[in-house]
Amino acid sequence: MKPKVFIAKPVSQQVEDYIAGHCDYRIWREEESIPNDILFDEIKDVQGLMIPKAKVTENFIKQAPNLKIISHISVGYDTLDTDLMADYNIIGTHTPYVLDDTVADLIFGLILSSSRRISQLDQYVKVGKWDKLDEPTFLSKDVHHSTLGIIGMGRIGEQVAKRATQGFDMNVLYYNRNARPEVEKKYGLKKESLEQLLNKSDFVLTMVPLTEETQHLIGERELKQMKEDAILINASRGQVVDEKALIHALGEGMIGGAGLDVFENEPVEPSNPLLKMDNVVTTPHIGSATAQAREAMAMKAAENLVAGVTGGKPENVVEELKHLL
Ligand code: DGY
Repeated sequence: MKPKVFIAKPVSQQVEDYIAGHCDYRIWREEESIPNDILFDEIKDVQGLMIPKAKVTENFIKQAPNLKIISHISVGYDTLDTDLMADYNIIGTHTPYVLDDTVADLIFGLILSSSRRISQLDQYVKVGKWDKLDEPTFLSKDVHHSTLGIIGMGRIGEQVAKRATQGFDMNVLYYNRNARPEVEKKYGLKKESLEQLLNKSDFVLTMVPLTEETQHLIGERELKQMKEDAILINASRGQVVDEKALIHALGEGMIGGAGLDVFENEPVEPSNPLLKMDNVVTTPHIGSATAQAREAMAMKAAENLVAGVTGGKPENVVEELKHLL
């Protein structure tokens, strides 16, 4: 008998066929996220669950007494309560590697759009204000040969450093718990303290996973340490930056601008003051949202799921749950 699994989001025919080859499955085929009551009903008898974001609570786990694996279709897994999952012997997997280049591309989009005011000036052209532009509005800030400070030198940070040094001749500083000498050598990077990085960078990128240590890593004190015209880019998790402090810093002209793919509350509230600021470029948490990356993530999640319910070893078990294997 094949193991039972539930897929909590529509996937391509290829991914579905792969899962069908190994499991009895049911699938949520609607575009909107699955409501909790339906999800809870669907997981009652399954051994595996594949889902983009699982808010795992004790109540959630109690709905699924046979559950062996939650295969998360994302690289960040801050919504998984790994301590609780360990208590219940449930493996959690994620989808690293396949989205690194895609997220790094988006980060460069945010860097370029915020520094060269692309979104703002696009609006000027579209509403017929081209000839009303005065120079101070028009003039922007060079990206090439400027200094980029990357907070978090993981896989994505490394891809950003590669683009920055090899494509834009940027000087790249980084701050990371552990030194990355091989990456330093490869791309000519320099490790700095957080304070030094903030003092020296024209662009500051936060690219760390959300944990207790990184929550509000960038707050009032850190924003004050940045250059007056520096631009903050966040494409990791909204909670890494204290949004209230950021709104204040931007409002007071303490920093030059921001490029944000993520927010403390998502979807962002329409009343969020960041949405009214000309020097803030926003995107709706789309770091990995290309057709190719999303397909690769879904296939990786499917492979992890199948391995987890058929007695194999899933390739991408999250660090905190590796001891369960
Ligand atoms: C990820 O994979 O973690 C992206 O941020 C999408 O959630």
